[in-house]
Parts: sequence; C-alpha cells; structure tokens
Amino acid sequence: MPRIIVTGAFGQIGSELTSALREQYGPDNVVATGRHVPEAASSAGPAEVLDVTDAASVQETFRRLEPDIVYHLAARLSAVAEQDPESAWQVNVEGLRNVLRAARDVAAERMFWPSSIAAFGPDTPRIAVPQDTIMRPTTIYGIAKVAGELLCNYYLARYGLDVRGVRYPGVISSGSPPGGGTTDYAVEIFYAALQRGKYTAFVRADCVLPMIYMPDCINAATKLMQAPRERLLHHNSFNVTAMSFSAGELAREIKRHLPNFVCKFAPDERQAIADSWPQSLDDSAARKEWGWQPSYDLPAMTEDMLATLRARL
Ligand code: SER
Repeated sequence: MPRIIVTGAFGQIGSELTSALREQYGPDNVVATGRHVPEAASSAGPAEVLDVTDAASVQETFRRLEPDIVYHLAARLSAVAEQDPESAWQVNVEGLRNVLRAARDVAAERMFWPSSIAAFGPDTPRIAVPQDTIMRPTTIYGIAKVAGELLCNYYLARYGLDVRGVRYPGVISSGSPPGGGTTDYAVEIFYAALQRGKYTAFVRADCVLPMIYMPDCINAATKLMQAPRERLLHHNSFNVTAMSFSAGELAREIKRHLPNFVCKFAPDERQAIADSWPQSLDDSAARKEWGWQPSYDLPAMTEDMLATLRARL
C-alpha cells in the first residue's frame, strides 16, 4: 500500500478527501496534517500538526514519513487572502514550494495540488473558458494560483516530480464548511435555509459561477491521480466543472424543496472577486485525457445537500 500525506487535511476538501483515501488505502496509510489538529481527529487515523510555511518542519515530516503520494491542500481562500495578501502568499506560494521541494527530496511518486477558477481574470473569456487561455487574475489568491500552476509545471519538467492538478470551481459540501472563500454563499445558503428559513447572499442574484459538489470534487482528485501518466498532456491545472448557476437560481432550486425559504441579496466586496471569475468552463481536456465525468448537476446536488444536512443538523 502506498503511504500518503494530506496537508490541509482538516479543511473543506481535505477532511472528505482524507476519509475517502482512508477507505481506499486503509486508515494507517494516510497521515492527515494541518496547522491545527482537531481533538477528535486522531481516532480516525494518524494525524500531525504541520505548518506548510515552516520549510524545516515540512522537510522533517516528509523525511520521517517517506510518502509515496502527497495531496497538498493547505491554502488560504480568496476572500481571506485579500484581507492579508502577504500571509496568503506565504501559505499559498511559499507553502506550495516547501511541499514540492520536500516531495522531490523524498522522491515521492506522485503529488496533487489544486488550482482554481480564480487563476482566470477579467481578460479571460467568461463563458466556456478553454483549457489554455489568457490568465491574468486580479486577486492575490488567483495570482498565487497561476504562480503555483507554473511552479508545478517547473517541478515536473525540471525534476520529473509527477505533480498533477485540476482547476476547481466553487466547491459545495455538507461535511466541513469552507472558510473565507468567495463561493462560500453556495454552501452557507443550505445551512441557513434549513436552520433559519432565510439567507442573505453576499453576491447578486444574477451572479453566475461554475460549481462542483464534493463527491465529484473528490472523484476528480483521485481519478486524475490514478490516470496513466503517458495519457496526460496537460498534467497540471485541468479545467473541471459540473454545473453553472446564478445565486438566484440556487435559491429557487432550494425553494422547490423548502417553499417558505426567503433569500435576499446584498453584494459586498466579494462580488468584485466573483465578477473577475468565469461563469463556465470547457473541461473537455480532462474528459479526454483522464475520463473526467461529473455526476451531480444543480437539482441532484441540492436534493443530496438538503437530505444530508437535514439528517445531521
Ligand atoms: N472557492 C474558492 C474561493 O472562493 C475559489 O477557489 O476562494
């Protein structure tokens, strides 16, 4: 069995990805790391504190654990990154470089690192963004993602480190909530609808963004990581998407299940970030090169989110 390290393992994607990897590879083969380790975490499998901005700790941890596979998810999301660009750069770029270096030094077999729709900018076509296109993001989060994509390509070309990645759209999840992202409204709305019957979204009703539901998000990562290397032409930063909808359409879809739900819209500074991102993506390269295929559209995701959260809340 391969030995796996996950960074950012207690975040929105990390927590569900770690569970999925433990089911597949056995709990003891997947080491969950994070800046803070929640108390309950160690009962599910090995868990360690790891701050990816601390190069020496990253080196020490990788040398000790000798991972074959690395999933590097530790990052600041877009809205919090705007509040502290210096620290966002430290975590999202320096942190990535520390992990790439350590993965290379222990000759890890494969590494996954996610980019994002935030890597695009106002000059990018907004509809059906091609795989290879203009990348001129205006947020520090997006600039760090472009730098990261290029850095991953460099480690692949220069050192032969098999680092792979996708550009995730907004991720909707019922497990761990996101923190500090621009697409967080698409998750918050479900909690608010069930708990309070009302929600005020921080974007306009007509704000359209591409999205993906967590099971597809996990599937994209694990499927890409299992793809035969020789079939990958793009390797890093594949566009992947599952659905595109406006905040108003999402509210209407929830209302079909909860007729009394009331949604208002009060855009704040996050609207400008959303406006710089595309509305939909062309993910045909991912479909062709490693068989990407999402399962959830807006109605299927909404039904599953409501059922899962209702059972839990
Ligand atoms: N969902 C992320 C965010 O909103 C974008 O990658 O920050």
